[in-house]
Amino acid sequence: MKWSTLAFVTLLQRSQAALRFGCGTVTIQRLDPVVEPGNTPSAHLHQVVGGNAFGPNMTGDIGNQGTCTTCTFSEDFSNYWTAVLFFKHTNGSYKRVKIMENDALPAGINGGMTIYYTQQDFNSNGKQKITAFPPGFRMTVGSPTQGKDGMTRHKGLRFTCLDNKSTRFPEIDDFPAKPCKGGIMTEHHFPACWNGKDLDSPDHQAHMYDTQPTGFAAGAACPSSHPVRMPQLAYETLWDTAEFKDMWPKDGSNPFVFSYGNQAGHAYGTHADYMFGWKGDSLQRAMDSSCMFNACENGKPLKSQSVAEMNKCKAKEIVNESHDGWLSALPGAMA
Ligand SMILES: *[C@@H]1O[C@H](CO)[C@@H](O)[C@H](O)[C@H]1NC(C)=O
Ligand SMILES: *[C@@H]1O[C@H](CO)[C@@H](O)[C@H](O)[C@H]1NC(C)=O
Ligand SMILES: *[C@@H]1O[C@H](CO)[C@@H](O)[C@H](O)[C@H]1NC(C)=O
Ligand SMILES: *[C@@H]1O[C@H](CO)[C@@H](O)[C@H](O)[C@H]1NC(C)=O
Repeated sequence: MKWSTLAFVTLLQRSQAALRFGCGTVTIQRLDPVVEPGNTPSAHLHQVVGGNAFGPNMTGDIGNQGTCTTCTFSEDFSNYWTAVLFFKHTNGSYKRVKIMENDALPAGINGGMTIYYTQQDFNSNGKQKITAFPPGFRMTVGSPTQGKDGMTRHKGLRFTCLDNKSTRFPEIDDFPAKPCKGGIMTEHHFPACWNGKDLDSPDHQAHMYDTQPTGFAAGAACPSSHPVRMPQLAYETLWDTAEFKDMWPKDGSNPFVFSYGNQAGHAYGTHADYMFGWKGDSLQRAMDSSCMFNACENGKPLKSQSVAEMNKCKAKEIVNESHDGWLSALPGAMA
């Protein structure tokens, strides 16, 4: 009796705030306000989710810009983006791979990604204060020009060959070598230790430091150079490869290529971008609370919105080019 009372008290004291939510596609365009500000078009195509202020010159506090967001949490006007996956036919044509919504999310979300803000690992806070990103904060993880060493450096960049939408293992560091019944999932985990000063850095990465041994695992302590523990941000994207299952090259070579080109048959250039845009102190309030996943909705403590409202939100089309159907080259002719 005494022991179980003690265990109950311990459980209550342990804050376990973790956010997992869907954000539909807000645009698919050749724009990149972090790496190529002002460029219309940017070098390669991106899928973007989040606030509709997304544009080539975005800067400052984007929580105060735009009028809507494609995310479940309606105070989250952040933008989250990655490269887009294409299938390359043996005849030389390309087709964009459709994005499907994850399981464990409300039905009907238009494509998009699943976004996570966890504490030290998937479901515990490691008993330390988690500091929300400040207005104007931005970062990237991975790089289109990195080789296999980049995958070793960024342990949170992973792929999963899906049997179905619930498959999570094994996580691999390249495209799956065979057709996957349920599609391909890409995972982007960002570093969570901040230098406490810079909203950005010239390479968009040096202001952050990664201590995770692998995705969703407890990170080691932050180093003195980057002492501030931020939320562990991660994206999951589900690529619906079903329509290509009978078109795999006879020689077994990998037919998928990201929009940044680099067609050597591997996926090492996988990368992702983030621009913080939560309104006011909403993300900090969530991190200080003990809600888990969809229990954080409906004002407990975060405001949320319906799938229909999420899907209505769109960013302006600034770069007008087609990226659907069979194409003779990747957008931007990335080779
Ligand atoms: C972005 O900035 C550039 C250069 O300052 C300007 O020419 C362009 O019109 C701006 N684009 C948009 C969509 O505001
Ligand atoms: C390649 O194959 C696809 C699928 O059959 C077809 O739609 C496309 O037109 C082909 N491209 C060329 C250049 O023949
Ligand atoms: C989904 O696939 C996993 C293996 O990846 C399997 O363990 C699980 O039973 C499958 N779930 C369903 C609903 O088929
Ligand atoms: C985009 O370009 C196409 C083809 O040039 C044109 O028909 C369409 O009206 C354009 N859309 C916008 C929004 O400018």
